[in-house]
Amino acid sequence: MHTRNFVAGRWAGGSDGRVYAVRNPADDSVVAEVPDSTADDARSAADAAHAAFRTWRAVPARQRAAILRRWYDLVLAQRETLGRLISTEQGKPIAEGRGEVDYAASYIAWFAEEAVRANGDVIPAPVPGRRMLAVKEPVGVVAVITPWNFPAAMIARKIAPALAAGCTVVAKPAEDTPLTSLALVALAAEAGVPPGVINIVTASRQRAPAVVDAWLADERVRKISFTGSTPVGRHLARESAATLKKLSLELGGNAPFIVFDDADLDAAVDGLMVAKFRNGGQTCVCPNRVYVQRGVHDVFVEKLARRVAALKVGPASRDDSQIGPMINARAVEKIARHVDDAVARGARVVVGGKRLRDAAAHGPNFYAPTVLVGATPAMALSCEETFGPVVPVYAFDTEDEVVALANDTPYGLAAYFYTQHMARAARVADALESGIVGINEGALASEAAPFGGVKASGYGREGSVHGLDDYLHLKYLCEGRLA
Ligand code: SIN
Repeated sequence: MHTRNFVAGRWAGGSDGRVYAVRNPADDSVVAEVPDSTADDARSAADAAHAAFRTWRAVPARQRAAILRRWYDLVLAQRETLGRLISTEQGKPIAEGRGEVDYAASYIAWFAEEAVRANGDVIPAPVPGRRMLAVKEPVGVVAVITPWNFPAAMIARKIAPALAAGCTVVAKPAEDTPLTSLALVALAAEAGVPPGVINIVTASRQRAPAVVDAWLADERVRKISFTGSTPVGRHLARESAATLKKLSLELGGNAPFIVFDDADLDAAVDGLMVAKFRNGGQTCVCPNRVYVQRGVHDVFVEKLARRVAALKVGPASRDDSQIGPMINARAVEKIARHVDDAVARGARVVVGGKRLRDAAAHGPNFYAPTVLVGATPAMALSCEETFGPVVPVYAFDTEDEVVALANDTPYGLAAYFYTQHMARAARVADALESGIVGINEGALASEAAPFGGVKASGYGREGSVHGLDDYLHLKYLCEGRLA
């Protein structure tokens, strides 16, 4: 286990020696202590990344790709160890921890392949004797700021394209889950990523703003790639205006999941179980509001309730756990607040609806998988992301009504709907204000697809052929006097 910062190719403590504890959310035990870094540590990381940029950008793309491919191989070779580390610090069941390693590795492989395809354009010149070219160049030093819910995948999804493009990186992982990212960076160094190309500093919730502010103020940091909350995304956009950084912001969601009365209901329940309960509901693309057409409402709820009641809740270390602990006590409090508010406003609990406090079986951070019916737009869980294993079900009558309800949110990351009617599928897909739409499908994540939102869910795309462009800018070359 690596428990220190990695700057300029060396492992080191923070400049003032302070540390903070990383805890296992299943039982609150301390897993490790890591540096509680300062603004000086952040600046040292930026110094190293800036110094390494000149040489890394000049490494031929094919060579950068080979290093990324070696990183991919090493990550997969450590699948079990990394999967257990993810589950220990983040809490997701071990099967999902292993799955996240595969998911993270898929981004590294993808961008190893894309590194050699950062092609530009030759533009037909409007006058004789001229050649006009558009070439792609790396933007420079990138600050990568990642969330706790996918400690491996989010680091890989940002660092792999940055390195493929020829950028260098300063990174701050989420305070709750720094250990996986430190382990990944160690493997990147073993794969041949030169010193200074990836630099990573850890910081507690209290000190993270000082680290990030140092990068925001730094002219040499040319881009920020952030996944996290919309308020923090807005802060980054505001504060980076002075140095006009390029931004990729993958922010909050409030995903609708719509079941029309012509849907295959069993497929819709399967899709909802996958989409909603992945990572215990702690995923930006998790359905947050489930709209079911009145004619199939009761039968759908009955099928869903049976499946949700059968979910096994337990620590990540148990092989049969399907729902682990929430990340921390604040997360559980938010879930409880949402459910209590919904019930006070008239919702009915069909399954769950309570914290699990049985100390022998559960630690402090578990919440029972929950289904509520009678949800309405006035409830807190309709307006805010619950980020937990709670399914509020709303009844609706018409297509126009449900599309309006689905879009009635500042957010627009993911949306899902189930129908067997082709024309309706086309209409609703067009009408939903969302960066990602699942049509008769609940499992959307793929390194080959563009991931990102619209409206208050941010901008920029990760993964896919478009993911590399977020780390490149276009330079226009005009060659004259050629005739
Ligand atoms: C996220 O929750 O931000 C990422 C989820 C995913 O990649 O599917």
